[in-house]
Amino acid sequence: MLQSDNPTQTNTWKKLETHFAALRHQHLRDLFKADPDRFKKFSFEVDGTLYDFSKNRITEETLDLLTELAEETKVPAAIESMLRGEKINATEGRAVLHTALRNFTDQELIVDGENVLEEVRDAQRQMKDFCDRLHSGEWKGYTGKKVRHVVNIGIGGSHLGPQMVTEALKKYQKPDIEVHFISNVDGTDAAEVLRKVDPETTLFIIASKTFTTKETIANAHTARSWFLESAKDEAHVSKHFVALSTNTEAVSKFGIAPENTFRFWDWVGGRFSLWSAIGLSVACAIGYDKFEELLRGAESMDKHLKNTPTRQNIPVLMALLSIWYTNFFEAQSHAVLPYDQYLRLLPEYLQQLQMESNGKTAMRNGEYVNFQTQPVIWGAAGTNGQHSFFQLIHQGTVLIPSDFLAPVNSHNPIGEHHPMLLSNFFAQTEALMKGKTEDEVRAELEKKGMAGEELEQLVPHKVFEGNKPSTSIMFDMLTPYALGSLIAMYEHKTFVQGVIWNVYSFDQWGVELGKQLAGAIEEELLHDKAAEHDSSTAGLISYYRQKRK
Ligand code: F6P
Repeated sequence: MLQSDNPTQTNTWKKLETHFAALRHQHLRDLFKADPDRFKKFSFEVDGTLYDFSKNRITEETLDLLTELAEETKVPAAIESMLRGEKINATEGRAVLHTALRNFTDQELIVDGENVLEEVRDAQRQMKDFCDRLHSGEWKGYTGKKVRHVVNIGIGGSHLGPQMVTEALKKYQKPDIEVHFISNVDGTDAAEVLRKVDPETTLFIIASKTFTTKETIANAHTARSWFLESAKDEAHVSKHFVALSTNTEAVSKFGIAPENTFRFWDWVGGRFSLWSAIGLSVACAIGYDKFEELLRGAESMDKHLKNTPTRQNIPVLMALLSIWYTNFFEAQSHAVLPYDQYLRLLPEYLQQLQMESNGKTAMRNGEYVNFQTQPVIWGAAGTNGQHSFFQLIHQGTVLIPSDFLAPVNSHNPIGEHHPMLLSNFFAQTEALMKGKTEDEVRAELEKKGMAGEELEQLVPHKVFEGNKPSTSIMFDMLTPYALGSLIAMYEHKTFVQGVIWNVYSFDQWGVELGKQLAGAIEEELLHDKAAEHDSSTAGLISYYRQKRK
C-alpha cells in the first residue's frame, strides 16, 4: 500500500526549503553561463524522445534533493505496488492497471484470482477482429453499405483520450473512414455531428465505463432515435451500435447485444482508459496495427518507469519539477505548449488527466493538506499562443512553468514551415530563459537613435525579467509509438505527483456533488417541480422558466 505521510514533514522537504531560499534569486542566464555542459547534464533521451530539463530553475543539488524526496516518500515502492496490481485506489477499493493494457510480455498478472493479461489479450483480439471486419467492408450497415462514419459517444476519459489521439494521428487515418465525437449534453454537439453523417453508413460507439453517465446515455438515445427514424426497424440497431463498458448489464438493457459489447475492467481508470476498449474509435481511425504501436510506445515508457533509477526516471523527474514549482515557487498553473498542430488537443486531455487526478485536498491519511496540490493545466498549440497569452508568461506577475513539445520532422514538410515553426519553439524557450535586461533594452533603443526621457520611459516596458522555466520535449516524428510513450510519460508523472502529495490520484469524488444537484434540478425543470435553493440558484431557475419558449 502507499505510504501516507505529509510530504512537508519529511526531512528532505526541509532541506529543499533551505536550498530554495538560496536558489530562488539565481538567474537561469547565469547558470547557463557558469556551466557550458548544462544542456548535456540535464537532458535525457528515452524512446527516441529528448527531454531537456536544462531550462528549469534547478542545479544538480536540486535534482539530488528532489530525488531524495521521491525516495523518502517511497515513490519506487509505490510504482511497484501499482504495477503489481495492488489496490492502491483505496477509496474505491480497486487496483490501477492501465499498464496491463499495454503489457506484451508473456508473464502472468493475477488480480482477484484472474490472470488479467489473458483477459486483456481476449479483449484485444475482439477489437482487432472488429476493426478488420470494419476496414475490409465485411461489417455492413442495414442497407448493405460499408461503414464510412464512426461516431464515438462518450465524455471525460471516454472521450478526451480517443479524440486527442485520433486527432494527433490523423496522418495515419484510414482513407474511407471518418471518425466523429459527441460528448457534450448540449444538443448542439449531437446535432452538428448528426448533420454530417448518414444513418446507412454510420456506426455509433457508445463509450462509457459505468454506462450510467447521463450525458452519454442521453446522447446515445438521441443517436438511436435519429438512426431509427431512417432504419425503422429495431433489428438494425445491432449493425450500427456497439458499446465499450465495464457494465455489461446496463449495456444490454440499452439494447446492445453482448457480441457488440467490448468490455474492460474496473481497474482501468476513466482518464487512463484510452488503451482499453475505450480506444476502439482510435483503432477504427488508424487500424488495429497502428493502435498496437501506440500501446507498444506506452509499454516502453512503463518499462522505463519500472527499471530506471529515480535520478534519471523521466516521469518521476517531471513530477518532481512540478512539485518544485508548485510547492516552493508557488506556481499555480502549468502551460502545455505543443508546437505540432496534431497535438492541439493535448492540453485539454492533460487537464483531465492531471486535474481530475490530483486536484485534491484530503491526504491518504484523511487529514487535509497544508500545501498546494495540482496546479491548473492549460495551453494551446504554438505558434498561436505566442500571439495571445505568451505576453503574460513573458512579462506577467505570475510564474508559469511550461512544457514545449515538437517533432524534429514534420508529417507535412511544406516549404519552410517546419523550420519556421521550430525556430519559434527554440526562440521562445530561449527568450523565456534569458529575458532582456535594462542595459540590453537601453542599448537597443540607443542604436535606433532614441535618447533622453523618451528612451527612459520606454525601457521598463521593454524589459523581460527572464528566468521563466520550461522543459523541452522533442520526438523524431509524431508516430503512434512516440505518442504512446509520451502519453504514458504524462500518466506516470501524474501518478508520482499524487504519491508525493499523499493524495489518492485515481478517484474523482469532486465531480459528484454537481452531478447530484444537476439530477435534482433536472427533475424540477422537466416536471415544473418546486424545491428549495439559495436566492441566486432559485432566481436563475425562475428566470429560465419565465423566458423559455
Ligand atoms: O465526470 C467524471 C467521470 O467519472 C470521469 O472520471 C470519467 O472519465 C467520465 O466521467 C466518464 O465516465 P464514464 O466512462 O463512466 O461514462
